[in-house]
Amino acid sequence: LYYLATTPDYYPKVVDHLGATRLVSEDEGWRRVVVEKPFGHDLTSAIELNKRLHAVLDETQVYRIDHYLGKETVQNILTFRFGNSIFEPLWNRRYVDHVQVLVAEDLGVEGRGGYYDTAGAVRDMMQNHMLQLLSLIAMEPPATFDAEAVRDEKVKVLRAIRPIDVARVAELAVRGQYVRGTARGKRLPAYADEPRVAEDTTTETYAATRLEVDNWRWAGVPFYLRTGKALPKQVTEVTIQYRRPPLRLFEHAPHPGHKPGDEIEPNRLTLRIQPDEGISLRVGLKPPGPRISLVPARLGFAYRDTFGVDPAEAYERLLLDCMLGDSTLFIRRDEVETAWGLVTPLLQAWESAGRDGLAYYPAGSWGPTEADRFIQSAGRAWVNP
Ligand code: BG6
Repeated sequence: LYYLATTPDYYPKVVDHLGATRLVSEDEGWRRVVVEKPFGHDLTSAIELNKRLHAVLDETQVYRIDHYLGKETVQNILTFRFGNSIFEPLWNRRYVDHVQVLVAEDLGVEGRGGYYDTAGAVRDMMQNHMLQLLSLIAMEPPATFDAEAVRDEKVKVLRAIRPIDVARVAELAVRGQYVRGTARGKRLPAYADEPRVAEDTTTETYAATRLEVDNWRWAGVPFYLRTGKALPKQVTEVTIQYRRPPLRLFEHAPHPGHKPGDEIEPNRLTLRIQPDEGISLRVGLKPPGPRISLVPARLGFAYRDTFGVDPAEAYERLLLDCMLGDSTLFIRRDEVETAWGLVTPLLQAWESAGRDGLAYYPAGSWGPTEADRFIQSAGRAWVNP
């Protein structure tokens, strides 16, 4: 098992040499290669890298790793959806208003400025981890739980996502960069002042976008992806927000964060990937007292309380799977290329716009105000844990 954790420039070279020296020939048993992210820089380079790998390796020998798929709570998305019968009937456009996928980090770039400044939030998080989360949430049930069946369904979802029109990027996405501020009690310099970041950098440290999955199940249900560095919290979660009840029979009782006249909070299913791993469902319930009214309450599952252990380290699981020859939790060639195809228009539009449209936010805030307006313009709001 060869694990490529070199800088990405060396992937093709290392694999060429593994081929030339016959170190990956499978005459005497399996030979596998784990390829770390970033897998390419855009669609063209990802296709090129796949070609180079395939000149030497069979697809069954290539294990493109995305450590999010090794997280226990990410795998739990599939068991929750397909190991129970009561959620699937509600998992579609008839009941779901929209979906939010949030990956927030409270750290800055932590000494990785050299790499990060060539990447940015879309390449670093969206193209891989977040589109993977989206595909697990949105995919159809596979006929069996094997690597090809699961990955076939995931790639079908990615293919159903409406391509982003370069000319409409301003309507479909927001990008930001943090300036000096305090996140979780720690003072952070502006991103542009981080070591090994170009002074005139236009790299996004925050990105939010709205994607449409044009298929029978999801037509008309927006999927919002949002990620950023130097936000107030370290948290990854998926929120499925349901439609409101068709008729308003009850008023809401006074409760924090809610003003008289506000709408009743809709049901929300939250899959908490990390930290505080678990799943919760927000429902409206009657508080004690003579009046019939509603307050939100939470039905919940907490990973630690139920299982009494912390989730295992993602890489342990993935490397074990690789040794066992199970590629279910690894990214197939067509998946990685489709994912790059989706984000490449964003990257192109932002590259040619330069500083135009790049919004700034203080470290320790929930991102630029432009992003709030972006979701509010559709009558919705970010769910900030
Ligand atoms: C990596 C990114 O893939 O994922 C980092 O390169 C990011 O920038 C990290 O911090 C987040 O991983 P986790 O497991 O801490 O959510």
